[in-house]
Amino acid sequence: MPNYLIGVTGGIACYKTITLCRLLMKAGHDVRVIMTDNACKFVTPLTFETITRNRAYVDEFDAGLAPDIIEHIDLANWADEFVIAPATANSMAKIANGIADNLLTSTVLVYKKPIVFSPAMNVDMYANVATQTNLKRLAEMGHQIIEPGVGEMACQAEGKGRMAEPEEIFQMLCGDMPLEGVNILVTAGPTVEPIDPVRYISNRSSGKMGVAIAKKAMAMGANVKVVAGPVSVSLEGLNCVSVQTADEMLAAVKADLSKVNILIMAAAVADYKVSEYSDKKIKKNSENMSIELEKNPDILKTIASDKDVKQVFVGFAAESNDVRENALKKLDAKNLDFIVANDISREDIGFETDQNEVSIYFSDGTTTESGKIEKSKVAELILSNALKLYKAKNGTV
Ligand code: C5P
Repeated sequence: MPNYLIGVTGGIACYKTITLCRLLMKAGHDVRVIMTDNACKFVTPLTFETITRNRAYVDEFDAGLAPDIIEHIDLANWADEFVIAPATANSMAKIANGIADNLLTSTVLVYKKPIVFSPAMNVDMYANVATQTNLKRLAEMGHQIIEPGVGEMACQAEGKGRMAEPEEIFQMLCGDMPLEGVNILVTAGPTVEPIDPVRYISNRSSGKMGVAIAKKAMAMGANVKVVAGPVSVSLEGLNCVSVQTADEMLAAVKADLSKVNILIMAAAVADYKVSEYSDKKIKKNSENMSIELEKNPDILKTIASDKDVKQVFVGFAAESNDVRENALKKLDAKNLDFIVANDISREDIGFETDQNEVSIYFSDGTTTESGKIEKSKVAELILSNALKLYKAKNGTV
């Protein structure tokens, strides 16, 4: 059982860290807490001492308490896992720059492995370029950042900066990793096909579904790569290749295909592109105009013949009518293991919303209905079915 060292810095989200410590204790881990002085203004060390049954460490220069130990070195050596939650902008800035001016930041410099940071702060502090630069730096140093959530904050601002929920952090730290070692490629968002330097053809797609799948797959332990068109959601924390056109998306998918165990094509690829791109802005001289379009490559059809028997391919079908019939045709034509179909004539699900309701049609003729659920739950359903098929194909059931 790994030992957990929890760094607590001074933000109101400190109260959530009490639950995180409880969850880790209940799971049987030994937990020790280091608090900054500011953290002690929100929650007392006694709270964490009662929960963890260990001393909560605060001041680096506590004389005489335990002269036989050098706290920052011994705590760093004791810890198997080091999590800083909440991680304030101030503490992350110090750590990103190697400053060691209290017990927590000094211990960070001694600790040799990646640290997990769960940032929590006001939306503007989070968006500030200095904070973003420090987060990037921490990620480049090899640390893991748990993306904060979006919602109402203690300061009553709305936006991104809420610390991840303790149950979520616990799941990431200790949850089942059923997709460990599995390489998953997810495409997300629309593609954009330029007409001239200012105009383009595209599809409605926020990228929410694809990004939800990628994040859930990462949380389940998979090695995930995302090939994303211009999405309107954050790709933070994802291993991502950005593309614009269907041709670029095809090339990016092909480049990785031989290493992929599960391919999930959630992108809304534009079906057509202009036959001839105009490098000058087209003038609106006449009342009517027409542009000649030609078909884009169908990515799934193009790679279907390269599909290995051990690979699982998943496609999507956004349909406005005859959902089942159209989805089944695509399932067959694109050589898929299953297709995830949704009815885009419904306003309450699908495009830009956080919920979806899908039917999954499998190549063996069976069907599963999701009911109306969060996109993250749809992601879970897709991944658990893909994993089942992957295991069956690879003889690991
Ligand atoms: O034929 P349709 O576009 O409805 O098929 C949808 C599925 O096929 C999605 O999984 C989508 O990502 C994929 N697709 C593709 N290449 C295209 C168009 C769609 O791979 N050019």
